[in-house]
Amino acid sequence: MRKLLPLIGTPSQSHPGGRSAMTCRFRCGDACFHEVPNTSDNEYVGEIIAGAIGRRTMVRAAAVVTVAAAAGTAGVAGALPAAAAPADTSGKSSGNSGKSSGKPSAKAARGLRYSSVAPNTADAVTVPDGYAQNVVIRWGEPILRGAPAFDPEKQTAAAQAGQFGYNNDFLALLPIPGECDRQLLVANHEYTDEVLMFRGYDAANPTRQQVEVAWAAHGLGVVVVEEDRRTGKLTAVPRHHLNRRVTATTEFRLTGPAAGSDLLKTSADPTGTKVLGTLNNCSGGTTPWGTTLHGEENFNQYFANSGRATDKRYGIGTGATERKWERFDKRFDVAQEPNEVHRFGYVVELDPYDPTSTPRKHTALGRFKHEAATVRLTDDGRPVVYSGDDERFDYFYKFVGSKRMKKGSSRAVREHNLSLLDEGTLYVARLTGDSPTIEIDGTGKLPADGEFDGSGEWIPIATATAKGAVSHVEGMSAEEVFVFTRLAGDKVGATKMDRPEDIQPSPVTGKVYVALTNNTNRGVGANAKADEANPRNANKHGHILELTERLGRPESTTFAWSLFLVAGDPDDPATYFAGFPKDDVSPISCPDNVAFDPHGNLWISTDGSQLGSHDGLFGVATRGSRRGELKQFLTVPNGAETCGPIVQDRRVLVAVQHPGEVDGATVEKPASTWPDGPGKIVRPAVVAVWRKDGEDIGV
Ligand code: FEO
Ligand code: CA
Ligand code: CA
Repeated sequence: MRKLLPLIGTPSQSHPGGRSAMTCRFRCGDACFHEVPNTSDNEYVGEIIAGAIGRRTMVRAAAVVTVAAAAGTAGVAGALPAAAAPADTSGKSSGNSGKSSGKPSAKAARGLRYSSVAPNTADAVTVPDGYAQNVVIRWGEPILRGAPAFDPEKQTAAAQAGQFGYNNDFLALLPIPGECDRQLLVANHEYTDEVLMFRGYDAANPTRQQVEVAWAAHGLGVVVVEEDRRTGKLTAVPRHHLNRRVTATTEFRLTGPAAGSDLLKTSADPTGTKVLGTLNNCSGGTTPWGTTLHGEENFNQYFANSGRATDKRYGIGTGATERKWERFDKRFDVAQEPNEVHRFGYVVELDPYDPTSTPRKHTALGRFKHEAATVRLTDDGRPVVYSGDDERFDYFYKFVGSKRMKKGSSRAVREHNLSLLDEGTLYVARLTGDSPTIEIDGTGKLPADGEFDGSGEWIPIATATAKGAVSHVEGMSAEEVFVFTRLAGDKVGATKMDRPEDIQPSPVTGKVYVALTNNTNRGVGANAKADEANPRNANKHGHILELTERLGRPESTTFAWSLFLVAGDPDDPATYFAGFPKDDVSPISCPDNVAFDPHGNLWISTDGSQLGSHDGLFGVATRGSRRGELKQFLTVPNGAETCGPIVQDRRVLVAVQHPGEVDGATVEKPASTWPDGPGKIVRPAVVAVWRKDGEDIGV
């Protein structure tokens, strides 16, 4: 039975990412309203006439149910919804329209045998029948010794620096040696929504206190969580000695080939190696050596008054910023401190087991809007890191390290492993389609060979060694490649993609999955038109790319690719679910973060669904007879995005980011009452979900 689409309003057309204007403003610095920063004329996926037609038969079952989606009734987009109930902690599917559909299918792939949650607009986290949930930790909960209880009316920077930060995004769970019922939760705090944090916030005149609270609410959080042995419930353990906050003012060390370069020197740091803080950490990754990686994404929005061409390529504006931080610290004013902005846009690495350690920014992984950084090892133990640059028409990258990981936990071994991302080669992806260009008409219609697919190469752009760095890009020094990485991608003709977000290699098959969220500018005006890897013009629902690297070797410089998922309403002929019949898959729009469960199923969270329902989390089989069967597992409250999914045997963990972020909403006029109900301030939070009968997820 098809899941019915909810009868709600058409999503806002004025905000191309499907988000509210407030999300665009605070999260991305209105990225979609600026000119497309990639105006390079490098080619897009080229034409190679396919020798063979119809390598795989496409199954496109006729839709059996026709649903009038977006029928014009009131919805969340563009309007403040009525206050709703507090967070559901009962385990029932909350919100009538989100009720699970039918019984769990025993035919679904192992790990995905739950009743799909129907699309809905409930102001709640809605989970499948038979599942329960709890809020693990909320914005403002004290985690460090001496931090006060949360009081949004009296918030201070000192209090916030000891409390869980705002807008949790990427999540990692790591084991704690000797503490078997506890795990270490690491979270990104991507950005702040000042109008939802401060009563009476005046955007034209923020106060120093508000700005300093925002600095302390950005960054990273480390907090020990305790498991309930009978369920999947997790609770935070305040004041644990491993708990830590990293903020916009914590000292970082710049490492790798660009560290110490003139491009990174400032008046406060003539060495070019020390920088305060990390900003806009979106998704990330966990390394095999027990650290966490965090991508600095839309860092451009914090820097004012630039007119340089290199900054324009990164979307750094010529005027004041939204948050006006430049009024309170001149390092955010490019006109006064031109190189500070070169010290953001990196992958940062944290050793969460050492709360006194100085986190690092790795210049060898390049500087761009890193969505995430996911790691796997070559057979001989060298790290390979995948990272997408989340911007319309930007690229995705791979770093292959030259040093081998060592095993052990001594200080020397740990220090060695923390240097693994300083030496190696950075590559950018170029994709070539195998169908004639004329068959890619921009509608999403499959070409005659039945698949959007082709071959690809990783183009080296620079190599860092212990003795120095070498550029592989004509006209750019190695330092320039590592600091102005987007320009290097332009010069070598990387493929312009539809917002490359999270990337995840399957731990079972080794295939690599790249989430491409959307790109409503594809094919519009002078922008690049559809190609086989980005086959829809005005692509509002996004797609997922599957890469098969040569001989399964992650260090390979060539790969085959195909589109695994072309997202949208399954009734839309332009959608594709890896060939699985479309009459029993969940609608999905705007894939963003991806993760694997222990069974090898891919889990996808969404950001900015354009189907009129709330964002959510979905599981999909990537192999076997159920490959492509996509099932929605949960939905998030009004205005929220689903982030940071982790799927363990007994538990699903998600970060509910920016709940209540709806145009016009304020502290006084909230658009959501999640998670604590009416009269309480809306708070981003981490949620754990488990099966009420104590069994594993989806079996
Ligand atoms: Fe922070 Fe690309 O999402
Ligand atoms: Ca093809
Ligand atoms: Ca994201």
